[in-house]
Amino acid sequence: MYKEELRDKKELILTEDGTKTLFSCEFNEAYHSTKDGALVESLEKHIKPAFLLQKDKKDLVILDICFGLGYNTLTTLYYIKKHNLSINLHIISPEIDRGLISSLKDFEYPKEFNQFRNIINDLSKNLYYKDKNLTVEILIGDARAIIPKIDKKVDIVYQDAFSPKQNPLLWTKEYFADIKALSKSNTIITTYSVASSVRMGLYENGYNIFLVDGKGVRSSTIASPKILDLKYIDMELKKARNPKARSFRDSDFN
Ligand SMILES: C[S@@+](CC[C@H](N)C(=O)[O-])C[C@H]1O[C@@H](n2cnc3c(N)ncnc32)[C@H](O)[C@@H]1O
Repeated sequence: MYKEELRDKKELILTEDGTKTLFSCEFNEAYHSTKDGALVESLEKHIKPAFLLQKDKKDLVILDICFGLGYNTLTTLYYIKKHNLSINLHIISPEIDRGLISSLKDFEYPKEFNQFRNIINDLSKNLYYKDKNLTVEILIGDARAIIPKIDKKVDIVYQDAFSPKQNPLLWTKEYFADIKALSKSNTIITTYSVASSVRMGLYENGYNIFLVDGKGVRSSTIASPKILDLKYIDMELKKARNPKARSFRDSDFN
């Protein structure tokens, strides 16, 4: 499945919102939706819904799967700054590609991230950044091995791996069970995937499934152990209508 020898082969692409992303030859996929735009996708599918749903919390732990170009982490910081939120934030982000992180100090980010240049440089070099209200840790390695070792409960999970087709082991029922072990009763998972098999994997682990329509982007999914005031997806009805629908399992790919 993985073509590790292609890991360093990446192409720079311009997305619809004018921001840049990469195309991975290893996973044969872009790091962001080129149609939605890298910054807009991050803001509309992950950051805005997660922060609106967790707006009462002053301390947040975020699991950012996986760091990639860091758009989700950096857009989170941008959102907090823009809305003048006073939040103590701890971001934990697994990432397998150390070479990519080293290269980020030279990546052409949107101007919105200029104010975070020192954070990008620190992360690129040391995989770590800390100041009074913010800690960011990039954990290098396979997310499947890293996640069970995380000893913190998380408030938000940005589930932003390459697609189930290209990186299925980061979307299985067993993978979501490891995420569930880190969840609180009101954790919010955001993901761009609307695939039934992904939703089934979340549902089978006790998450409720909701549909989100962000501004100017395609629909996405929110999952939470809690019932939210969002468009509820009735997974029992989905199962009745399509008895063959099932989650991905690790054993399908090993
Ligand atoms: C779609 S990109 C993430 C984009 C990122 N969220 C952003 O906003 O820039 C997927 C990332 O997953 C990483 N990755 C792939 N398989 C992984 C694994 N098993 N464990 C950890 N990271 C992995 C890739 O190197 C890539 O950086």
